[in-house]
Amino acid sequence: MRRVSFVELFKHPITQKYVKRSGMAHAISCAYHAFRLARIHGVDPDLACKAAFLHDIGHYTWYSNGNWDFELYKENDIHAIKGAERAHKLLIRLGEHPKRAKEIALAILLHTDSYLPEGELELSPLQKVVALADEADEEPNGDHHYKTISDEKAIQLLAKLDQLINNVQNEDRWQQSV
Ligand SMILES: [Fe+2]
Repeated sequence: MRRVSFVELFKHPITQKYVKRSGMAHAISCAYHAFRLARIHGVDPDLACKAAFLHDIGHYTWYSNGNWDFELYKENDIHAIKGAERAHKLLIRLGEHPKRAKEIALAILLHTDSYLPEGELELSPLQKVVALADEADEEPNGDHHYKTISDEKAIQLLAKLDQLINNVQNEDRWQQSV
């Protein structure tokens, strides 16, 4: 049984404020990419989808004179660090298991290396899936952050994702029992 559903996650004011700030449509697309990739890479789809859905929850708005200031962003951004912490707090508040909340937070922390000193990170399969899911939805000039979606459509897609994950978990449980 999953302790926290996507529909619950969506309705929380923290998600409404911060996931909407960086793009609800992007978050949902990434969660769906993560579901597909998790199946390919043999990763827990609930962890992958939650990390993908929340991966940009730590973004700050780096604007100057009404326009996105890429230089300011590049120099000062720590959205992966902030996002890992914010997502962790949110998941714990909603009742997620601390072990799972930690795994999700780590995947968010490592979904990008843009804020880290040069060098290669060695990612776990879960962390890799989340980074790939983000890349899969990326558009030139950061346009993926500006795609829009209605609340109604968002809830519909997230309820469907809950169902898909529940089905996979039930199948796995059934296979383990035979
Ligand atoms: Fe992203």
